[in-house]
Amino acid sequence: MKSIAGKTVLLTGASGGIGVFMARALAKEQATVILVSRSEDKLNDICAEVNALGGKGISIPFDLSKLDELPSLVDKIHQITGHIDIVINNAAVEKYRCFQDYTLEDIQSILVTNLISGMELTRLILPGMIARNSGHIVNIASGSGKKGAPYNSIYSASKAGLIMWTDAVRQELADSQVNISVVCPGYTAAGMFFAFGLPAPKLAKVSQPQDVAIAVIKAIKQNQPEVMLDGVLTRLLFSNVQLFPEFGDHIFRWIGIRELNKNRSEQ
Ligand SMILES: NC(=O)c1ccc[n+]([C@@H]2O[C@H](COP(=O)([O-])OP(=O)(O)OC[C@H]3O[C@@H](n4cnc5c(N)ncnc54)[C@H](OP(=O)(O)O)[C@@H]3O)[C@@H](O)[C@H]2O)c1
Repeated sequence: MKSIAGKTVLLTGASGGIGVFMARALAKEQATVILVSRSEDKLNDICAEVNALGGKGISIPFDLSKLDELPSLVDKIHQITGHIDIVINNAAVEKYRCFQDYTLEDIQSILVTNLISGMELTRLILPGMIARNSGHIVNIASGSGKKGAPYNSIYSASKAGLIMWTDAVRQELADSQVNISVVCPGYTAAGMFFAFGLPAPKLAKVSQPQDVAIAVIKAIKQNQPEVMLDGVLTRLLFSNVQLFPEFGDHIFRWIGIRELNKNRSEQ
């Protein structure tokens, strides 16, 4: 999709963190941005910003974990805008725990918000895109989907799921003009990473949220299959973990990720 101007973009997780920067970047591209998350007041503020920056903002407060209500969300958006050109599945939650300390409810809520709601939204919207032979889905995953994040294992599983689901669907859509990308931020100086007030591990690159937003726009315009925002060392590690998983474990321990995440699980 060469231009985003005038396109209708459904952006989930628009009320905070990196989502706000994506909304601003889309506004500057003159898109119509459907802003979805649970916090109505925050969404309304972002909506005003989108309008001021040259886009058209429409805020729809909605809890994506209510899977049964997703068809009505999609119907509502169709009634307002006619169709949806781009979906950015960005909303996510995380909870640090030793795996055995998660409740079944924790497991379900993290997987539903981070993985299944994006799958279901896409399942509902994709037929229209295929009929028009135009559209783009962007799934926001994480480096935690490339190598397991200790004490954040459910989040990690949800992000690994997003990466492989994107990979499979891209192959299904290969003969069409409907595209799908996965963007994997690393440590980012906004949102859930900063919520803990702990430093990033040594040697880890910390991206700015604007960089993630720029990467998303570029992924759409250039139809990039997968984008990683981590530094070279981390990317090298991720490219080797399938061959040498225990080597990756040692690196994670050495650069302090295991300790950092353990501290988070105890907060
Ligand atoms: N920040 C990082 O360092 C980092 C690193 C790697 C990947 N990522 C990924 O980047 C994306 C954005 O992360 P972030 O740091 O910006 O996170 P964040 O600040 O915690 O924001 C998460 C967003 O998701 C929304 N959300 C959560 N549960 C929802 C639900 N049930 N229904 C609707 N909306 C819901 C939240 O809004 P409400 O609370 O208003 O609903 C919020 O707008 C996520 O996919 C995350 O996994 C972030």
